[in-house]
Amino acid sequence: MIAEPNTPTLDILAEQLRGQDPVEALRTLADQFPGQVVFSTSLGYEDQVITDLILANDIPIRIFTLDTGRMFSETYSVWKKTNDRYGAKIEAYFPKQESVESLMTGKGPYSMYDSVENRKECCFIRKIEPLNRALAGQKIWITGIRAEQSPNRQTMTQLEWDNSHNLFKFHPLMDWTFEQVKQYIKDHNVPYNPLHDRGFVSIGCQPCTRAIQPGEDFRAGRWWWEDNSKKECGLHAK
Ligand code: ADX
Ligand code: SF4
Repeated sequence: MIAEPNTPTLDILAEQLRGQDPVEALRTLADQFPGQVVFSTSLGYEDQVITDLILANDIPIRIFTLDTGRMFSETYSVWKKTNDRYGAKIEAYFPKQESVESLMTGKGPYSMYDSVENRKECCFIRKIEPLNRALAGQKIWITGIRAEQSPNRQTMTQLEWDNSHNLFKFHPLMDWTFEQVKQYIKDHNVPYNPLHDRGFVSIGCQPCTRAIQPGEDFRAGRWWWEDNSKKECGLHAK
């Protein structure tokens, strides 16, 4: 971890947040790092809970989404519904035009199925590069990651240092179960992606996401043609 002036250490910050519920913790972070806390939303179930926590409680945290250009139409609909419901403007980060043009011209629209390298290339262009721009100059990155989502995510802690972006990552719902997430959405009447009612659990880009069968792993519907060890797109790679 690279210590910066006025940046507390991971231990000190973790101690401050200890025992706080998600709203208290988000407030603590927004107070401590004004204008430098951002939340990335994929507009999926977990992220809609966090959006509600932030906007219903008026916590000054910027919310952005990485619009890869390959999202489901249902995802765009829930984006609009969310803006309307809260009178908010979720910020869009879009991939660079020249990169997408050259990818699509050179390899066509479904190169991700041809090899892991090709898939990662597409993820880099459509997600990672825009993410890097969205996180530039920030101190705290909030995500909707939960431990239950994958074995890899069980090794993460609620507050982490992210070496690649030089900031802290905070996952307010880390210990929540899927049932808790669903119940929150229901109790607070939060808009959600209708694909969740059709067997989609983790929702990413349209070519790379499918519904899962009962009993299948949470992330089984993402990049299903690849083996399990590769099922992170690089957004949360360590
Ligand atoms: S991914 O790495 O496989 O794509 P996943 O869909 O599980 O991630 O989402 C984990 C967290 O990553 C989300 O809670 C959200 O914070 C962030 N995230 C994923 N996709 C996006 C996106 N398109 N835009 C913004 N944030 C995203
Ligand atoms: Fe491209 Fe699929 Fe990655 Fe989306 S998830 S950026 S479509 S490879």
